[in-house]
Amino acid sequence: MVNFLIFGPPGSGKGTQSVRLAGKFNLVHLSTGDMLRAEIAAGTDLGKRMSSIMSKGELVPDEVVIEMIADRIDKNKGSAGFLYDGFPRTVAQTVSLEKMLNERKMKIDSMLVLEVDHDELVKRLTLRAEQSGRADDKDPEVIENRINVYKSKTEPIINYCRERGIYQPVNGMGSIDEIFNRLSRFMKKLM
Ligand code: AP5
Repeated sequence: MVNFLIFGPPGSGKGTQSVRLAGKFNLVHLSTGDMLRAEIAAGTDLGKRMSSIMSKGELVPDEVVIEMIADRIDKNKGSAGFLYDGFPRTVAQTVSLEKMLNERKMKIDSMLVLEVDHDELVKRLTLRAEQSGRADDKDPEVIENRINVYKSKTEPIINYCRERGIYQPVNGMGSIDEIFNRLSRFMKKLM
């Protein structure tokens, strides 16, 4: 079973590309953002507790998302592998994922990092706020905070993965099709 991290700042295209890649390579798409938004939409206690954190653009506690991911991995034991979108987001989450995978005789095969200019990120998220109205896209200050949280808490994972030889930067500028083809080429080599 393969395990790919689709990594990058808010608006870099992780979700868009993960859906398409999961279809092409027959992998299970695990998005912690989608899982958390589903909890909010269902009005669960967890969703209620996480909602205010997410609306500020801050990260929810590591243990919440680690538990969600462990549950999904175990529920999809017969699959060809997993695409992680928006997880891990801290070095602690990365260490937990590695441990989880090692215990199940797997490893992180590659961390594909979408590289996108700051102005393009803001443009994409602002446009989405107008079109689909995701709560954390509506306020420009929250968008900036999400990008800053990415830089301070999430980007350090890049060095961690670089040391393990699994870091793969990918140009995230251009059309959705162009970026999909770039990502597909890297993934094909490892499958
Ligand atoms: P999450 O749902 O992961 O959001 P995010 O990281 O902010 O990422 P986005 O969904 O905004 O962007 P994306 O990179 O997926 O891009 P997308 O494809 O959507 O997390 C939300 C919140 O949940 C976090 O802030 C945090 O509070 C919490 N959370 C989630 N996971 C967590 C974790 N592990 N630990 C702690 N907290 C966690 O594209 C964006 C837009 O651009 C779309 O409208 C798309 O159509 C468009 N677009 C995509 N590609 C292109 C392109 N090439 N050209 C033009 N437009 C494009």
